[in-house]
Amino acid sequence: MGKSTEAAKSWSVASVLNLPFLSCCLFFHIMKANLPVSFAGNGHAQTFNAPDDLPKTVMRTLNQGSNPMSMDFHPIQQTLLLVGTDVGEIGLWEVGSRERLVSKNFKVWHLNACSMPSQVWDAGNGARQYTFAGHEAPVFSVCPYYKENIQYFFSASIDGRVKIWQCDNMRSRVDFEAPGRWCTTMAYSADGTRIFSCGTSKNGESYIVEWSGGNVQRTYRGFRNRSLGVVQFDTTKNRFLAAGDNFSIKFWDMDNVQLLTTVDADGGLPACPRIRFNKDGTLLAVSGNENGIKILANVDGMRLLRTFDSLSNDLLQHLRLGQS
Ligand SMILES: *[C@@H]1O[C@H](CO)[C@@H](O)[C@H](O)[C@H]1NC(C)=O
Ligand SMILES: *[C@@H]1O[C@H](CO)[C@@H](O)[C@H](O)[C@H]1NC(C)=O
Repeated sequence: MGKSTEAAKSWSVASVLNLPFLSCCLFFHIMKANLPVSFAGNGHAQTFNAPDDLPKTVMRTLNQGSNPMSMDFHPIQQTLLLVGTDVGEIGLWEVGSRERLVSKNFKVWHLNACSMPSQVWDAGNGARQYTFAGHEAPVFSVCPYYKENIQYFFSASIDGRVKIWQCDNMRSRVDFEAPGRWCTTMAYSADGTRIFSCGTSKNGESYIVEWSGGNVQRTYRGFRNRSLGVVQFDTTKNRFLAAGDNFSIKFWDMDNVQLLTTVDADGGLPACPRIRFNKDGTLLAVSGNENGIKILANVDGMRLLRTFDSLSNDLLQHLRLGQS
């Protein structure tokens, strides 16, 4: 239990990036820098045997109370889900037992609307952690990237510029332009070797591309011609990409630009659902209509949900104390 409790502690440092004028751009993430090195950026050797292993079966439906804009699973406690909403609410869910462990409101999110540079806040104590200066337009997303014991961030601004920052000195070393040139997010494969971006242009054209040495290596196909919102994506298992588009979830094999499969999660999804895999890729959280969150699982995920149906009292107790 010791390890889990430690993990829960380090995870309570979640960060919040306040973004200007686009509520769709609300973003938060877990500071993987605060996790023990052996956990952060820890690639998983096992891979899916077949696309059938993708989490496609709806196992849980949660109601957050306000519209989920961003979600992240705990890197070790695989059934803990952190949710950020359009009104600055944060919910922490144990999706196995459907219990909401924490609910908080972060007014700090609204403080510096319309200002540049963008800043990352520590959701635990409201302290400012990092400032991303140097963009010439508001920052749409940041993505932590952990390699060879160094923490980096990608930041993407709405003029399509992507910068890479090193956290210890907050100096931007690399700068390039993403397709779409509007709302871009970055993600990398679990082993850190492959880097992707997903963007939607002002005309609603969406792109997922793989990057190699600052150049676009692949452009994945299968999006609607006109996305009805900003597409969000995620990667899993060093093998698959997923994105919310056309009221469904679309999956690609990283090595194939053609669409692999589409899942509608029993319907009730918004035009561009927000999605997030858990660390092992056995669960997929998907935002639904009416403030809902659907938890999709593969066979291993179903087993996991049952295992964690009643999370250890020890950890629950710890998390409850942590919020008071
Ligand atoms: C969008 O969804 C509709 C209804 O399921 C489907 O007929 C159409 O082919 C989809 N288009 C794209 C580009 O995914
Ligand atoms: C998207 O637009 C292109 C060019 O206008 C057209 O050829 C294609 O059929 C369209 N695709 C869909 C899925 O509507």
